[in-house]
Amino acid sequence: MSLRYGQPMIAIPGPSITPERVLRTMHRSSPDIYEGELVDLTFGLVEELPSIARTSGRAFMAISNGHGAWQMALCNTLSAGDKVLVLESGLFATVWGQMAERTQLNVEYLSGSNRLPIDPNMLEKRLSEDTAHEIKAILCVHTDTATSVRNDIAALGRAIKNLDHPALFMVDCIASLVCEQYEMDQWEVDITVAASQKGLMMPPGLGFVWANDRALEAHKSAGLRIGYFDWDQRLNPDHMYQLFSGTPPIQHIYGLREVLDMINEEGLENIWNRHQILSGAVRAAVETWQQPDGLELNIIEPQARSNAVTTVLTGTIDSEQLRNICSSEAGLTLGLAVGGLEADAFRIGHMGHLNPPMILGTLATIEAALLSMKAPIGGNGIGAAAEVIANAFPD
Ligand SMILES: Cc1ncc(COP(=O)(O)O)c(C=O)c1O
Repeated sequence: MSLRYGQPMIAIPGPSITPERVLRTMHRSSPDIYEGELVDLTFGLVEELPSIARTSGRAFMAISNGHGAWQMALCNTLSAGDKVLVLESGLFATVWGQMAERTQLNVEYLSGSNRLPIDPNMLEKRLSEDTAHEIKAILCVHTDTATSVRNDIAALGRAIKNLDHPALFMVDCIASLVCEQYEMDQWEVDITVAASQKGLMMPPGLGFVWANDRALEAHKSAGLRIGYFDWDQRLNPDHMYQLFSGTPPIQHIYGLREVLDMINEEGLENIWNRHQILSGAVRAAVETWQQPDGLELNIIEPQARSNAVTTVLTGTIDSEQLRNICSSEAGLTLGLAVGGLEADAFRIGHMGHLNPPMILGTLATIEAALLSMKAPIGGNGIGAAAEVIANAFPD
C-alpha cells in the first residue's frame, strides 16, 4: 500500500511545472507558418521579450535547451582563441566554460566555493591585472542550480564598469529568470541567457539570448558565427521563418505567448515577491529542522540564497533514502544533488507556477519522510514555514 496516488508533485529545479493553461494552448495542430496569426504572434514575442530581462536590447530565440543558448551567446560575439574568464560558483558556470573550451575559446577559471557567492573583489583584482585587455568576455551564472547560490550580478557589473574593462559581461539566468529580480541594463550586463523550462514554466525546447548594443557590435566581427545560431538572419528577417533559422517551434510559440500573458497579469515584481516568500518558507523549514550532523542549508550567506532552488546538505541522513520515501510513498519528486558537492545533499526546486499549498505540501511531505526515518531534526519546520506565509497574507 502506498499513499502516492493523487496528483504527483515535482519539486526538482527544472523542468518546472507547466501550468494547465499553457499546456492547453500548446496542445494544437500546426497552422500556416507563412502568414497569419502565428507570424504576428512571433514578431510580437520578439518585441516583448526584452521586458522580462529588463533590457532595451534585442532578444533572440533558438530551438534548443540552455546549452544551445550558451552556444548562441558565445558564437555570436567571440572569435577563436579569445580569452574568456569564467567566474565559478558551482557546476553550471564551469560547464559553460567547458563548452567555451570546446568552442575554441581560451578559457580561464576564477575558482570559487560551492557554498559562497562569487567575490566581486576577486574579479576586480583579476581584471586590474589585465591591462592589455586580453579578456574578451566574463561568464557567470546568476543562480547556480547545483549549489543554489544567487550571485550579486549588480556588484559584479559594477566591478567591471569601475575598471572600465571592455570585456563583455555574460550572465546565465537559466534558473533565475522571472524567479529573481534581474535588471540586465541597470546591472551593466551585455548578454543574458535563459531557457524555457524553469521560471518560464514551459517544456524544454526554447533557448533565449538577450544582447545589448555592445554585444550586437561585437557580433559584427565575431569569428565564431556559425550557420544555425548566427544572429544575422534573425536580426533583419524578411520572414518569420528566419527568426528561427528554419521551421519555428509553433507549439512553444503559443506556450510562450500564454506565459507572457500570465507574467503580465501577475506582474513581474509580484512574481519575484512570491518567489521570495515561498522560498523563505522553504528556508525557514530547513533552518528549523537543522541539527548538528543533520540537515543544513548549503549556502552560508543568507542574502546569497536563491529564490528558485534550495540545496540542503543532509549530514548523516541518507538523502537517497529520503528522496525514495518521498517519491515512492508520497508521489513527491525531489531534486538529486549534482555538481560534486562536498557532502550528501538533495535539492528542492521552487521555481515558476507555485503557491502555498504546493510548497507547504512539499515541506510537510519531507518532514513526514524525515520522521519516518527517525532522522535527527531540530523541530517542526512546517510551523516555521506556515508562519512565513502567514506573515505575507493581508491582516
Ligand atoms: C543555471 C543553469 N545553467 C545551464 C543549465 C543547462 O541547461 P540545459 O540543461 O537546458 O541545457 C542548467 C540546467 O539545469 C542550469 O540550471
